[in-house]
Amino acid sequence: MKVLKGKNIEVIDDSTFKSNLKNYKNIVIDIGTGDGGFVYRNARKTANNFYIGLDASGDNMMSSAVKVNSKASKGGIRNAIYLLEDALKLPEDLKDTADRIFINLPWGSLRDAVVKGDTELLRGIKSIGKNGAALDIYVTYSSLYEVKEISERDLPELSVEYITGVLKYKYLTHGILLKNTNLLSNEDLKALETTWAKKLAFGRKRDIYHLEFKIKKEFWM
Ligand SMILES: C[S@@+](CC[C@H](N)C(=O)[O-])C[C@H]1O[C@@H](n2cnc3c(N)ncnc32)[C@H](O)[C@@H]1O
Repeated sequence: MKVLKGKNIEVIDDSTFKSNLKNYKNIVIDIGTGDGGFVYRNARKTANNFYIGLDASGDNMMSSAVKVNSKASKGGIRNAIYLLEDALKLPEDLKDTADRIFINLPWGSLRDAVVKGDTELLRGIKSIGKNGAALDIYVTYSSLYEVKEISERDLPELSVEYITGVLKYKYLTHGILLKNTNLLSNEDLKALETTWAKKLAFGRKRDIYHLEFKIKKEFWM
């Protein structure tokens, strides 16, 4: 797996990776972590959990990776790591790792995979989660503001009907069970401590969908 160690990329093997996780209560993976701020802040607040930020782009994660790897007096912590990986090809080494998974406000291929119920993404999520792991997804786009994007990338119209009538069954096929669909406002986003949530919270009025799932490893259709 490719780990951002400060400004450098280091490839680590399975046993080195697993040795980092020993003695932590919960392992939390943030897929499409962006600048990694969500991971860093939560890792600081919850020292007995281990946080993994994963993104296909290293540039935004870099400053958090530098901070994590610095001395404690400069904000360094041991319970967070940043992986430079594609969410559509999640590494084998993450198998059965996560107690909780977040996908916060994805864009690009990650958003497309989330809203279309892409097989590669869902297989990967089921694989990296422990049995009973929680998956939280926050996703938004709007037919008012993102018309070009929706048409070019052939995105479905987001609605509670689409989520509960179509998308739910795509996730279910992979043993990922939809528990709740919450419709949030810009104001509600202020509680989600990510950089992108803050940007959207103060932007144009839009619907944000919060989907809560549970992973059932033994479930097959
Ligand atoms: C809008 S940003 C959100 C970042 C962060 N979660 C937040 O809320 O501030 C979306 C992120 O998804 C990442 N992303 C898009 N496609 C991806 C993929 N296939 N694998 C991993 N990350 C991906 C992008 O690199 C970007 O950092």
